[in-house]
Amino acid sequence: MIRVGIVGLGKIGEDHLNRIQNRISGMEVTGLYDILENRGKDLIEQYNLNAKSFSSYQDLVNDENIDLVVVTAINQLHAEVAIAALNAGKYVFVEKPLAMTAEECLAVMKAEEKTGKRMLQVGFMRRYDPGYKKLKEYIDSGEIGQPLMLHCRHYNTYLSQPKNYVSSQAIVETFIHEIEIVHWLLGEEYKTAKVYFPKKAEVTSQYDTPLQDPQLIVLETESGVNIVTEVFVNAYGYDISCDIVGEKGMVQLPDVPSVILSKGAKRSTDILTDWKERFIAAYDVEFQDIADRLNSGRELSGPSSWDGYISAVTSDACIKSQETGQTEDVKLIEKPEFYKNFK
Ligand SMILES: NC(=O)c1ccc[n+]([C@@H]2O[C@H](COP(=O)([O-])OP(=O)(O)OC[C@H]3O[C@@H](n4cnc5c(N)ncnc54)[C@H](O)[C@@H]3O)[C@@H](O)[C@H]2O)c1
Repeated sequence: MIRVGIVGLGKIGEDHLNRIQNRISGMEVTGLYDILENRGKDLIEQYNLNAKSFSSYQDLVNDENIDLVVVTAINQLHAEVAIAALNAGKYVFVEKPLAMTAEECLAVMKAEEKTGKRMLQVGFMRRYDPGYKKLKEYIDSGEIGQPLMLHCRHYNTYLSQPKNYVSSQAIVETFIHEIEIVHWLLGEEYKTAKVYFPKKAEVTSQYDTPLQDPQLIVLETESGVNIVTEVFVNAYGYDISCDIVGEKGMVQLPDVPSVILSKGAKRSTDILTDWKERFIAAYDVEFQDIADRLNSGRELSGPSSWDGYISAVTSDACIKSQETGQTEDVKLIEKPEFYKNFK
């Protein structure tokens, strides 16, 4: 049984808590910490947990009744908690992004390397989504020939972001999912990034901070594949798409199945409004995979610290491009030996 301590008990922290307690076998929640004083105690009561509420994340990561630390606090805390947990010899699951900057990711990698073992997984759950898995199968089997260009969309629902949301968040919090999944699908790294600012949606005037929305991002990989992605955080709903054009054919991410209503000489279907429902199955598969691997002594196999680092370097290049308006290079360090052995 893997004993889990959760640091950060907001929306996704509670979601993972509920998942681990009620849907995943081989895992149980034994420790909780949030900066909000009563949050841990309240959740222990609400979910009837046999767990301890800690008064600092340091105490939680060092507790002997914790095997895996799940980091679901705000982004600014990810690297700090991950490093403390690794230094305490604990397995770590960090929600995306791995850290705020590429520098911080390197510090996490150093701490993991010191353990001599693969100890950390980043919460890029799309790799566990059946649609994306199928796209990868088509690419890897050569069915569509070599991929040449991709068109992706990441739309969030109108006014679903906080009023102080800024343009760089659309990269670090939203587009980072696209960066990671396409890197995994294609099995290669990025060479350049350029962000375009199309005509601004009027709704952006309702934000307290300057916001460019939508944004259009073009990434180019080492082999020359071009990926064009529209990020629009004030769209008609939560809508994710990915079209991959290859030499011999094209594959497209399927829509989430939804009942078709025919009425008044019209047909319609629902569109989701947030990430929870869209990727609910992927989160479950992600955690069950971690539980199964750790319980049977097998290595973690999901997105690694190195993948978190690639995503951070690429998102840093995008943010630079937002500022300069130019195409920016994605400059990675040479992959450390330690990470070359990871599948
Ligand atoms: N994989 C995904 O699709 C996905 C989806 C949503 C969120 N996330 C990630 O999960 C993380 C949390 O997102 P959320 O939507 O739950 O946010 P949230 O704001 O609902 O929760 C953040 C929590 O962190 C706590 N916190 C703040 N400072 C803290 C500190 N110093 N120590 C301990 N706790 C502290 C807050 O009190 C809050 O409970 C973010 O990093 C986000 O990027 C990932």
